[in-house]
Amino acid sequence: MLPEVSEPEAVRHYVRLSQQNFAIDTGMYPLGSCTMKYNPKVNEWAARLPGFADLHPYMPEDLVQGALELMWRLEQGLAEVCGMDRVSLHPAAGAQGELTGLMMIRAHHRSQGRDPKKVLVPDTAHGTNPASCALNGLRAVPFPVGEDGIVSPEALAPFVDDDVAAVMVTNPNTVGLFETHMHAIAELIHAKGGLVYGDGANLNALMGKARPGDLGIDVMQFNLHKTFTTPHGGGGPGCGPVGYKALLDPYAPVPVVDRRDGRFVLDHDSRPASIGRLRSFYGNFGMMVRAYAYLREMGAEGLRRAAELAVLNANYLRVRLGETWHVPYQTACMHEVVISDRHLKQTGVTTMDVAKRLMDYGFHPPTVYFPLVVKGAMLIEPTETESMQTLDEFVEVMQTISDEASSEPARVTTAPQVTRLRRLDETRAARKPVLRWTAPEKPHEPSSASGETAGTRL
Ligand SMILES: Cc1ncc(COP(=O)(O)O)c(C=O)c1O
Repeated sequence: MLPEVSEPEAVRHYVRLSQQNFAIDTGMYPLGSCTMKYNPKVNEWAARLPGFADLHPYMPEDLVQGALELMWRLEQGLAEVCGMDRVSLHPAAGAQGELTGLMMIRAHHRSQGRDPKKVLVPDTAHGTNPASCALNGLRAVPFPVGEDGIVSPEALAPFVDDDVAAVMVTNPNTVGLFETHMHAIAELIHAKGGLVYGDGANLNALMGKARPGDLGIDVMQFNLHKTFTTPHGGGGPGCGPVGYKALLDPYAPVPVVDRRDGRFVLDHDSRPASIGRLRSFYGNFGMMVRAYAYLREMGAEGLRRAAELAVLNANYLRVRLGETWHVPYQTACMHEVVISDRHLKQTGVTTMDVAKRLMDYGFHPPTVYFPLVVKGAMLIEPTETESMQTLDEFVEVMQTISDEASSEPARVTTAPQVTRLRRLDETRAARKPVLRWTAPEKPHEPSSASGETAGTRL
């Protein structure tokens, strides 16, 4: 049954909910490895144009030439940025892009009469990497990165044998460092018939500067929500295109958008060895429109500048935070910097407490306890759109929290103090989520009037 509420009541309900949430539109969101960069509003305008928004996926090709052209142009643009021969726009998220790339790798090996099962994954990898291997019937074999936080070909070599289907390398990696040995890594793997998968989730720091395709990578995914300013799709209604070299083209998901005699067509038939469909219809078209709008708005120079600023901002924080906080990797970083709670050991204050306290000061917490290779890690990614003033404010707040940890630790360990809801039982929220609103039992108990819904109780 739908609740009988007036328009103002409905509006107030949703505005109130939005005010209880933290958003990039209200403050800095330094969630390392998630690249919460600002999504320009022009993207939304473009995606809502009736010629795009009102399309139906069953419309005949002749009536959707503009949409197909946009997809084709987006593919060309992304291929240029990553240095690959082609790009499939089907996958709905970065993780599904990984799965797609690995399926293509597997199909390639099978076409050669081989079926190697191992995928080498460094111990700094994002959790989706081994998960994608497992989903595709492959075995993720972890190997340690060097002391310097990056993959060393010498450390990798003992793991490389005839059963290696691929190596998966994230570049820049999840501790914010550039993998400088990509060519040597690719040579090692290619020599045994394996392929190189590039997790391109962190392309924001590379675009316009270096191209994965030129570094020896055979196939990679983009996370459009991280690099091309589309909204985060919660792992679902997003877009994680896959760029690949020509040798993998026979296995690309279908249909593929092609241009023939000046017309745009959906080619379902010319790849009999295709891995098939990954998504219903053609993927999440609205995301493609947003990404294309961003690409055109920025141009080549703009994308390069965004990468430069993202790296500059992260390094500014590395140096300024390093005045107080432990920075495990002292070398210049790329898009994100990892710090730890090491200097707070005597105070009893932990990374989790610092993350909660940041909310009291109007900042979203960074990623915590990841990467796993750094104890008490906080992974901070400011992105290119934060001003120096905001970065300085963030540094000051981090300094204040560090001081509080010594002088009044309880203030930090009981944070957040000023948010709508205080510290929550996160384990219970994850194990027993309350996802449906239920009417309060007592008639006058604060309900939606105070803004609390079952959902926000999480
Ligand atoms: C390095 C890395 N790889 C893969 C992913 C998975 O992407 P998605 O969340 O779009 O599935 C992420 C997510 O942010 C990531 O940071």
